[in-house]
Amino acid sequence: MARLSLAIGVLTGAALLSSLPAPAASPAPNGATTYARCAACHTATGKGVPGAYPPLGADFRKMAAKPAGRRYLALAVIKGLNGPLTVEGKTYRGVMPAQAGLDDAAIAGVLNHVGTAIATSGPPLRAFTAAEVAATRASGSNLTGADVVKLHVQAGGG
Ligand code: HEC
Repeated sequence: MARLSLAIGVLTGAALLSSLPAPAASPAPNGATTYARCAACHTATGKGVPGAYPPLGADFRKMAAKPAGRRYLALAVIKGLNGPLTVEGKTYRGVMPAQAGLDDAAIAGVLNHVGTAIATSGPPLRAFTAAEVAATRASGSNLTGADVVKLHVQAGGG
């Protein structure tokens, strides 16, 4: 009898273990969590601060619909921006620091968060991927924030 209940106990334990969800190999970075660092300047709703920090929702999806715009948006986060920038008819002469410490997947995640939760007008967002951000990082490796800001107009921003 003792042996039987031991066997049942072992079997129950095994069944419990196998019913636990397998741990995810690498959890997808949460764009909303990463956005907290952007919110420090662009505000939680992405409306920005007139004259200091541009709104993020205004032309994001329009730019994200074009290859040049997608490149500009990823480079803005990777390299930062430095120089005059006109958004919704207002000129900003600020400096956005390169967002160091974010890997390609985190950048794709935060851009997808902005393109869905912050920017709600314009064409539907085609999701950014880590591979796309990696390719942009490689092709823009020698650019500075001052170079990236000059890409804004061809990116479809305004
Ligand atoms: C320290 C403040 C600061 C932080 C943090 C910051 N930004 Fe910016 N951002 C700016 C400023 C300032 C500009 C305008 C730069 C200029 O005038 O050249 C800008 C511009 C931009 C633009 C260009 C907008 C357009 O319509 O062309 C994008 C996109 C952007 N930021 C995204 C982000 C994202 C995403 C994050 C977080 C990962 C972030 N920013 C974090 C200050 C910041």
